[in-house]
Amino acid sequence: MDSASPSASTPLTDELVERVRLDGPLRFDAFMEAVLYDPRRGFYATGGRAGARAGDFLTSPEVGPLFGAVVARAIDHWWVEAGSPERFTVVEPGAGPGTLAAAVRLASPVCTDRLQWVLVERTAAQRARHVERLGASSDPDSHRPTSGVHLVSVASLPDAFPADVVLANELLDNLPVRVAQRTTTGWSEVWVGVEGSGLVEELQPLPTNDPDSLMLDRLVPDASAGQRVPLQHEARSWLRWALGAVGNRGRVVVLDYADTTASMARRGPEAWMRTYASHGRGAGPLEACGTQDLTCDVAIDQLAEVRPPDAEVTQAEFLGSHGIDELVEQGRQMWVERAHIGDLAAVRARSRVREAEALVDLAGLGAHRALEWWPVDPADPGAD
Ligand SMILES: C[S@@+](CC[C@H](N)C(=O)[O-])C[C@H]1O[C@@H](n2cnc3c(N)ncnc32)[C@H](O)[C@@H]1O
Repeated sequence: MDSASPSASTPLTDELVERVRLDGPLRFDAFMEAVLYDPRRGFYATGGRAGARAGDFLTSPEVGPLFGAVVARAIDHWWVEAGSPERFTVVEPGAGPGTLAAAVRLASPVCTDRLQWVLVERTAAQRARHVERLGASSDPDSHRPTSGVHLVSVASLPDAFPADVVLANELLDNLPVRVAQRTTTGWSEVWVGVEGSGLVEELQPLPTNDPDSLMLDRLVPDASAGQRVPLQHEARSWLRWALGAVGNRGRVVVLDYADTTASMARRGPEAWMRTYASHGRGAGPLEACGTQDLTCDVAIDQLAEVRPPDAEVTQAEFLGSHGIDELVEQGRQMWVERAHIGDLAAVRARSRVREAEALVDLAGLGAHRALEWWPVDPADPGAD
């Protein structure tokens, strides 16, 4: 990724201006889809990605291997809870460069020889890394090795793909959103139009009986004129897909920055929609198209319209409940025993302390939400 700071106008901006002139304004989600995923000039197609050094933004797996080591313990826990099956499939949508899968494998969970880990990543450049860096197979029907984690990398999965766990870290914040604004008469929606040679926002009213207007009236009854909120249709479709993949027997786990729609209305769009490039905050969302990441906090209450989560805790609490403190303590002891050798294992052990601080920091990654949808108990009268 180019480390120069983003400029206001880019080749993709020019293409989008042309597109709007020909076909009319773009709804905000179509604009977000283009700036992130345009196959030639979008942020991800041109090399944007998570990563500590070469990347543009730092996610929990990129802090270091500790996050994956804790996830590996969680996977073991869920595998045992599921009755220690012969084959246990974890699907990781939005896998990015594959760092989480690499760390889970490195941690050697007890279920290693039973574990199939499917990395789902829409960006071809990142999928290529799964094959080169992790030796993942690109064929979901490939035969599993006799030992070790069976890694598979795909662009997407069919609707009925069976999974025991669907786990997404910082995927939903990268799914295109629509944006609504409260006006004195109801709700309007933000579209992207053209003025001169640049992109500008346009407001188009939403009918008062539109399902989105009705939902926002319910979720943000006290909205005042000018307040904005995201509309997360794509995240909801994704959740429907994930719940379908796990059926009654598996669980869906989402780790991301998240909030309620009403709180986002109060905080304002500068707080819940952010841009990043080369580890810094980027320009405005309509600027520098294709050279910066564009992300949006996940509206928990909009996901709950699909099905309310069974658990919602902070990332710090999630990692705590799966033994991060124990792993850090093991790391401290290993460092004491191996410091004189100074090998990779010793250095990794020592770095656990620093990694843990970053992962549970409530002013940063530790404040992310961990949302879980659990297996449905068929005996539960409320179950479908
Ligand atoms: C913010 S990155 C997070 C990467 C990784 N999970 C991490 O935590 O470092 C989001 C990733 O999701 C991918 N992505 C977005 N929409 C997707 C979809 N519908 N299916 C699969 N991957 C998707 C993007 O290409 C990007 O690599």
